[in-house]
Amino acid sequence: MSADGEPLVELTGITKTYAGIHALSDVGLTIRPGEAVSLAGENGSGKSTLIKVLSGVEQPDRGTIRIDGETHPHMSPRQAAAAGIMVIFQDFSLFPNLSVAENIAVSAELASGARVYNAARAHGTARRALARVGAELDLQARVETLSVAHKQLVAICRALAADARLIIMDEPTTALTEREVRTLLGIIRRLKADGVAVLFVSHKLAEVLEVCEHVVVLRNGRKVADGPAAEFDAASLSRHMTGRDIAQTSPAPLDEAAPLLLEVEGLTKQGAFEDVSFSLRAGEVLGVSGLLGSGRTSLAKALFGLVRPEAGLIRLRGQVIPAGDPIAAAASGIGYVPEDRLTEGLFLTQSILHNVAIGRTEAHTRLGVLAGHSAWAEAMDWLRRLSVKVPDPQAPVRSLSGGNQQRVVLARWLARTPSLLVLNGPSVGVDVGSKAEIHGIIADLAARGLGVIVISDDLPELLATCHRILVMVDGRVVDDIAAAAISEAELAHRLAS
Ligand SMILES: Nc1ncnc2c1ncn2[C@@H]1O[C@H](COP(=O)(O)OP(=O)(O)OP(=O)(O)O)[C@@H](O)[C@H]1O
Ligand SMILES: [Mg+2]
Repeated sequence: MSADGEPLVELTGITKTYAGIHALSDVGLTIRPGEAVSLAGENGSGKSTLIKVLSGVEQPDRGTIRIDGETHPHMSPRQAAAAGIMVIFQDFSLFPNLSVAENIAVSAELASGARVYNAARAHGTARRALARVGAELDLQARVETLSVAHKQLVAICRALAADARLIIMDEPTTALTEREVRTLLGIIRRLKADGVAVLFVSHKLAEVLEVCEHVVVLRNGRKVADGPAAEFDAASLSRHMTGRDIAQTSPAPLDEAAPLLLEVEGLTKQGAFEDVSFSLRAGEVLGVSGLLGSGRTSLAKALFGLVRPEAGLIRLRGQVIPAGDPIAAAASGIGYVPEDRLTEGLFLTQSILHNVAIGRTEAHTRLGVLAGHSAWAEAMDWLRRLSVKVPDPQAPVRSLSGGNQQRVVLARWLARTPSLLVLNGPSVGVDVGSKAEIHGIIADLAARGLGVIVISDDLPELLATCHRILVMVDGRVVDDIAAAAISEAELAHRLAS
């Protein structure tokens, strides 16, 4: 895992434009065998585009790609894969109804030119790949039955079985729990020790610094920093990414005399959560935290009617909200931003403006006439307030970077001016600068009397946004903590116990 030796990959002067937008300008990148390189940068800075160029998915307008010292003027995904450059895509591109062994061995089987699938050989291939990362999985299990973390493991093993020399992961930890992230970081260490290089994109700066030896920072498509990870810390990294210092937010002071907004009593859903009771005042930000399987996501969904509890009551301003009815929940002023916004929240081929303004036609209809431009103006206003980088609001949402797509969903809900907003992982996949902005927006909304529930396992985020934090363990609320009275270490301790 030495950082010297011949480079595996050398990109120089890579430039890529999309319809006049400079996604990448003159970017260079060197990766050596056994080295983990982190690609850092704000949303829309060009990270995914650089990965697409490196893996042959997109052709650069200018620049050279050298692999093992050999120049590839036009590299296709097949050529990249043949050179051992493999991307773990966010959807993992697995075959859901095939087994673990079949998924891991598929590329190796195809490459061997074997006409007949040989189960014993496939099992051997799969077992060897799993052993290389020190993991165990049931080889016969169908991939669709696996957790996200295990699917990711299968995708990594498939790359290994196909002789990967560089594994590229674009935000691999966003859908993982804290514990699964630890496991993944351990796997990355083993890959490096095994001589496999890793290119890693993540907005979580602590894990970037922990596992990578080299950091490259992009800003607006240009490389602004490049050096050993040891020369950076979270603050300097975020300064390079944003070009400024990020102020730590804290929640606005709470008005103790504010009226009760939400009352939850004895809410129970078998196998998910049990006898959950709490209340929330107007202007209050309440955090809900807990490990995987603690019931936090089911509880969040129940508040918005997406999960029907068997017992208990939800009251908003004293009115009982019918259980298990998202339309009634939305009509009574509850907004819900889902955890998986990329699949649950967006109409990818529709325009950015349309995605924000959707569901707002009623509010903008006067005497039966839709005032299209007031709906648009409102949507534009929210896009601006969330600093969504939109060159053209009529462009399809698909053309935005991942983090900016997420802000579009947030903008849509904010445009509906709910009185209670349930945010499930409000800044997952969002860069440090925008994260601070989103925290500022939460404080702002609360100061204007909105109730906000933040579901998150990002402890600094909970402490920066919440007045109170509920801790869930095994479906029960075991703690109700005043956020101002607790340190991050103490909160982590209570979550783990
Ligand atoms: N297919 C496309 N058509 C038009 N513009 C695109 C396309 N793909 C990317 N872009 C633009 O290129 C720029 C870089 O996007 P990219 O996806 O590389 O950012 P990123 O650094 O991966 O951001 P994030 O952290 O949000 O995922 C953005 O301005 C984006 O809108
Ligand atoms: Mg991206």
